[in-house]
Amino acid sequence: MNVIELLGLPSITGQLGLLEPLLVESVVTGDPFLDEVTTHLLAAGGKRIRPVLALAAASSEGATATREDLLGGVAVELVHLASLYHDDVMDEATMRRNVESVNARFGNLVAIVAGDFLLARSAEIAAGLGTEIAQLLASTLADLCRGQVAEVHTAFHAGRTEEQYLAAISGKTAALMATSARIGALTAGLGRPQVDAFTDFGRAFGMIFQIRDDILDVIGTEELLGKPPGQDLAEGIYTLPALSTLRDPERGRELRVLLGRPLDEPEREKAREIVNNPAAIGESVALARKYADEARLALEVATVGPTRESLENLTRGFVDTLPSL
Ligand code: IPE
Ligand code: IPE
Ligand code: MG
Ligand code: MG
Repeated sequence: MNVIELLGLPSITGQLGLLEPLLVESVVTGDPFLDEVTTHLLAAGGKRIRPVLALAAASSEGATATREDLLGGVAVELVHLASLYHDDVMDEATMRRNVESVNARFGNLVAIVAGDFLLARSAEIAAGLGTEIAQLLASTLADLCRGQVAEVHTAFHAGRTEEQYLAAISGKTAALMATSARIGALTAGLGRPQVDAFTDFGRAFGMIFQIRDDILDVIGTEELLGKPPGQDLAEGIYTLPALSTLRDPERGRELRVLLGRPLDEPEREKAREIVNNPAAIGESVALARKYADEARLALEVATVGPTRESLENLTRGFVDTLPSL
């Protein structure tokens, strides 16, 4: 997914170029080992979608990005990065951004403390942006942790409800996307209705983003995902397509016998095939489309002109590349 291409905003490309050195500067201390750990995933790339949301909101009135706008982008990317360090420990991941994950390369202990270090750096930067932003980022981090805990808490529960699923993804993914767009609107000094509308846009976009990620885990190939598909099922994370499948009498029965415990490779493939059915995938895509409508409505209030158009394109790109069923 090429975010920059979908956005089609040349100004954002330039701003991202300015963001990169600030990101590196924010995590480098001069301690060679710590620096190796903190720059490991940063150097591996990533889509930088949260800074893109912040910068798009900040420049929506046509202004050039200020240092404050850029630092807002740095602060949200650092929280995201830290969440990846910690998430990969939780998920026992081996790869991230097409390189070895931090836990795999340096061990869990280092990955956890380095993640904490990134959060501390983010908090320091946010404090420099003022009380409102510092408080907002702290409460967003709390939401993110709440979402992650909720997910772990319902792991291997075939009785997980759609409501529980939505609450978990709203915390673990949508909250930071909402805050990213909000911080951009705040550093740019936009009016309150616009600040709130950008926040609503970011939240709806975040829901689409995670639902899409969860659909791709079912329908994707190893080549496309950069990791074997069906990971969520194997790890006991029953996402929307699995929950829909469980409501189907026939397929639900077939699937239920495979849930509630870790799965070996053939079982995981079998479970994935059962969940990969048009009704379940269709329901998940339909929900992503509902959030796309919400995102569009929020954008109508948030901004006009090129930023609205490009954020609409971005949203459409994330939804329309899912199978239309
Ligand atoms: C991955 O986020 C974690 C999820 C919320 C699914 P991204 O897909 O934004 O990760 P990078 O930053 O591009 O690597
Ligand atoms: C992303 O969740 C977690 C956070 C961003 C906090 P996942 O566990 O679903 O993401 P991937 O699949 O590892 O990127
Ligand atoms: Mg993970
Ligand atoms: Mg996870």
